[in-house]
Amino acid sequence: MNAAVRAVVRVAAKYDLKVFGIRHGYHGLIHNEVKPMKNNSVSNIIQRGGTILKSARSQEFRTEEGRKKAAETIKKYNIDALVVIGGDGTFTGANIFSQEHGIKVIGIPATIDNDIIGTDETIGYDTALNTALDAVDKIRDTADAHERMFLVEVMGRDAGFIALETSIAGGAELALLPEELMDIEDVKSQLKNMLKNQVRSSLVVVAEGDESGGAIQLADQIRDDFKKYDMRVCILGHIQRGGSPTARDRVLASRLGAAAIKTLMEGHSGVMVGIVNGDIKITPIKIAVDRKKDLDHSLIELAKLLR
Ligand code: F6P
Repeated sequence: MNAAVRAVVRVAAKYDLKVFGIRHGYHGLIHNEVKPMKNNSVSNIIQRGGTILKSARSQEFRTEEGRKKAAETIKKYNIDALVVIGGDGTFTGANIFSQEHGIKVIGIPATIDNDIIGTDETIGYDTALNTALDAVDKIRDTADAHERMFLVEVMGRDAGFIALETSIAGGAELALLPEELMDIEDVKSQLKNMLKNQVRSSLVVVAEGDESGGAIQLADQIRDDFKKYDMRVCILGHIQRGGSPTARDRVLASRLGAAAIKTLMEGHSGVMVGIVNGDIKITPIKIAVDRKKDLDHSLIELAKLLR
């Protein structure tokens, strides 16, 4: 996200726009955490994970009263438009706020879940994916040496993008995704079929939002059927949300930050900027909020073919 903040500030400066950074998202907008930002405010941040502006979940912004206070801050600082960086929750808030108070908004999609429609990838996804893959590669070494079965849980409460691509890139035996319902007996028989009674290591990637309840619950349900594998569970958790962003993420965020300002200068509002097939594309925020991005079915098929 820092690369996106940097691009917004620097491109806005080219248009002689005054930029304020709002700390702690909507919470900061309600509580006046507003600071002017110049070119040098965003120096030396492109390589850092997280966001220098900080992030917060705001219950207050979910209320009309909270959004009224936020609109007063906008008025106080003479702000003409808001660039919001985030996922589903951020966009839902932006959409309501803009409709209620007539404030111009442009959205930049950022979530490791990659589940926002209107862009091939969201900011943070590539970094999270590579972090998960690095962990899977390391876990494989232990799995292989001890001939164990590992269930590795990756993030994705409602979406299986990280799980699916980690499983393909990491050569996993199976991936359990929230988008694909799989009966527990089916999971067992697929694994048994693949292992065909040989004792060898195996690795299953489980999205946290899978209907099995996650890797710990899954292990409890299948352990007895795979006794000789000395099953282990590893939950990758929040390490997937940090660390220095990949080059691909930095370039994506820089492009989207720049596109947000250009889109605003062209007179748009209530839209999200994204990149589809290499080109900048704008999508109404309402659509981004209402529709869910589907997993690429050809990748699901590929994962099956490679097992
Ligand atoms: O929405 C992104 C996400 O990474 C989900 O995949 C995950 O369930 C959630 O955030 C975790 O959020 P928190 O940091 O609040 O526990």
